[in-house]
Amino acid sequence: MKTKIAVANGDGIGPEIMQAVLRIFEANNVQLEYEFVEMGKSYFDAGYSTGMTPAAKETIEKLGILFKGPMETPKGKGVKSINVTARKVWNTYANQRDFRTLNGVETVFSKAGIPINLTIIRENIEDTYGGIEHLLTYDVAVGRRIITRPGSAQVIRYAFEMARRKGYTKLACGHKANIMKLTDGLFLETFQEIAKEYPDIQSSDIIVDDLCMKLVTHPENFEAIVLTNLQGDIVSDLCAGLVGGLGFAPSANIGDNISIFEAVHGTAPDIAGKGLANPTALLLSGILMLRYLGFTENAAQIENALLYTLERGIHTGDFGNKSIPAATTNGFANAIIANLGKVPSDGGVIGKENQDIKVGLQQQLSKNKLTVTKGIKEEMVGVDVFVEAGDLQPNELAELAKKRLTDNFNLIMISNRGTQVWPTGSIYTELVNEYRVRFEKKEGKTVTQKELLHIAADFSEDAKVCSVEFLMKFGDKIGYTLAQGQ
Ligand code: NAI
Repeated sequence: MKTKIAVANGDGIGPEIMQAVLRIFEANNVQLEYEFVEMGKSYFDAGYSTGMTPAAKETIEKLGILFKGPMETPKGKGVKSINVTARKVWNTYANQRDFRTLNGVETVFSKAGIPINLTIIRENIEDTYGGIEHLLTYDVAVGRRIITRPGSAQVIRYAFEMARRKGYTKLACGHKANIMKLTDGLFLETFQEIAKEYPDIQSSDIIVDDLCMKLVTHPENFEAIVLTNLQGDIVSDLCAGLVGGLGFAPSANIGDNISIFEAVHGTAPDIAGKGLANPTALLLSGILMLRYLGFTENAAQIENALLYTLERGIHTGDFGNKSIPAATTNGFANAIIANLGKVPSDGGVIGKENQDIKVGLQQQLSKNKLTVTKGIKEEMVGVDVFVEAGDLQPNELAELAKKRLTDNFNLIMISNRGTQVWPTGSIYTELVNEYRVRFEKKEGKTVTQKELLHIAADFSEDAKVCSVEFLMKFGDKIGYTLAQGQ
């Protein structure tokens, strides 16, 4: 019996490259059956605010696998990217991107004889991709960066498991916990906790800027790297550049119930409809999907045919030896089809042993899964009130804030753009019209959330309150950062 999957052609070059890949699958007698679903730009244009029809959503949730072409997000209409929405709504928490040297794809490193074979696992749901942003004043925009313990644990555990399956010996965690102490700090802390369960994998952590420098100088030193969403996005494109560009960058978005396989690149509107697109990235994504579904023999045969084809110098216009005429998308696919059964000079990849993506459990859910860490002692210690204060200088604002103090509180500090400007600061710190005013409870006092909200409400009579953040302690852990200079 054939395995049913959902397929979305996508926009721009999507239909051309998808057709090429499915032809290769067919030629290799892959036992898949496709349900084509309606998703993409034209469905936004037709009034579906999520960019897909209800029937498409139902099919994808029923089948659990979506193989998709790139999709365009209409600009300037305020709609969210369908690609990001799909990953988030269906909780495909791990984005796996494999990068390796391909014979026939010339890069600085291939010319120097330095082989690259590394995998980036990017957290796929959280971080700034929540898109929770606000203009607090006309001059000041803020975004919320959400990093959670369960979300981090899910992707980090996946990364360790993947490293084991692939026979990797090490996994690095890329982060910026030196600056983002609570968000990246939580990601790193979770990594270090989970690493204890995998003593066979050498774990290490590396600050993301240092990681970028080391990736471009010594990519051969890395095997697998796990990162938060935005940093992972940037670092994985950097890695795509190391192996020849976006045309060779596949991606698997793995969840426990639904998984999405797609190329990293976009719709390439500049070459759409011309038959020039390189289908390799989508084909490599399809190969990841075949392994995920257990079609490991097909995956190996198709990958070997692709590697053999590339090795023979056959290429589309975006890469390869310019003295050999470029093949069209279809011509390139035909060459791969003709080379099915051939193996590249290094002996090629092998069937079953190369199963590197876990086979997920698909469950029918009746309610949303909710994860909460229980039994942690919480204490409320104060409030940061963010205010727009017109032309007020810090000491003038402090006088207004002091008026709002009750016996339970101290005024601790005022900061502007995260830099303390009261009680001490520098006259050379430039200001914008949004301050953070920190009130903390006095030693030995207990305060309620209502009291803290009252402070903000009273303060709103003197200055426009833009937002309020509570200061919490969880066990021994302080749940807020100090201002620069505090
Ligand atoms: P892009 O990846 O579509 O194109 C960047 C450059 O790479 C262009 O010069 C293009 O011709 C070339 N290119 C990309 N894929 C190629 C291929 N397979 N063969 C040969 N050349 C290729 O990025 P861009 O221009 O920033 O985005 C275009 C559209 O794609 C936007 O609407 C964007 O939102 C969407 N997009 C969708 C993604 C997805 O569906 N996952 C991911 C990235 C962008």
